[in-house]
Amino acid sequence: MNFIKVIEEQEKHIGLIQLNRPKELNALNLELMGELRDALKNLDNNNQIRVIVITGNQKAFAAGADIKQMADKSAIEMLQIDQFSTWDQIRKTKKPIIAAVSGFALGGGCELALTCDMIIASETAKFGQPEIKIGVMPGAGGTQRLTRAVGKARAMEMVLTGKFIDAEEAMKYGFINKIVPVEKYLDEAMNLARSIAQMSPVATQLAKESVNRAFETHLDEGLHFERKNFYLLFASEDQKEGMAAFVEKRAPDFQGK
Ligand code: CAA
Repeated sequence: MNFIKVIEEQEKHIGLIQLNRPKELNALNLELMGELRDALKNLDNNNQIRVIVITGNQKAFAAGADIKQMADKSAIEMLQIDQFSTWDQIRKTKKPIIAAVSGFALGGGCELALTCDMIIASETAKFGQPEIKIGVMPGAGGTQRLTRAVGKARAMEMVLTGKFIDAEEAMKYGFINKIVPVEKYLDEAMNLARSIAQMSPVATQLAKESVNRAFETHLDEGLHFERKNFYLLFASEDQKEGMAAFVEKRAPDFQGK
């Protein structure tokens, strides 16, 4: 891995991925995105891992797709390379993903954070979709996920002006979970990961899938989907363990089965 660092078990059941192109503010070139796709796939297939944290460094989560790599491409080359297809793997990841964001999360960096399931931000975090300033527009979900997350008026303003918003505004807009001092953003993301890692991984995966379904379908179909997943969980040992532990007034010990 040249552009990311992967720590398979940073802590029990938690996989950590650090974007690691600090000089370029973690600009997301094709190689980095390929490594990220493969790392997520591996962590998703690793039975020991229950939650994944993606982070950058204090100055930048990621400053967007690599502009220098794209600048001279023709439309047909862009179509053939189809760089955003690697992003589908991130979306397909079954395990919960937490973005630990400090500094710039711009363009593809903002889109990457929004593709994760939850965002913990440092007080220095800056989110934005500045593609419009370089003559293009968001291409990795910015017009879709950001709009779903913050509503049309705010998404339009961010996408059409390219303005950055700080962590306070992002919190007000409702697309991040928490703001913490800069020295604590990764710890806080790990705290959140730890609390989810204690749950049944069978249940967290089906719950994640069900929440995501709310964005894909109408209410009747979404409720049906949720109900089936709820019933399916009664096939797991974790459901028996979780409910028995409640009745016996003890902490559950979930095995992911
Ligand atoms: N692509 C390629 N290189 C980038 C980059 C990017 N997105 N962002 C930063 N860099 C590079 C800079 O070119 C610079 O490299 P050199 O030292 O070799 O010149 C290095 O990272 C440090 O950057 P700056 O000197 O610019 O740092 P700064 O602190 O002065 O400014 C910044 C920081 C405001 C984030 C500025 O770098 C910037 O505006 N970056 C581009 C942001 C952007 O437009 N992102 C959208 C990209 S397109 C996209 O993401 C499409 C999509 O939908 C996926």
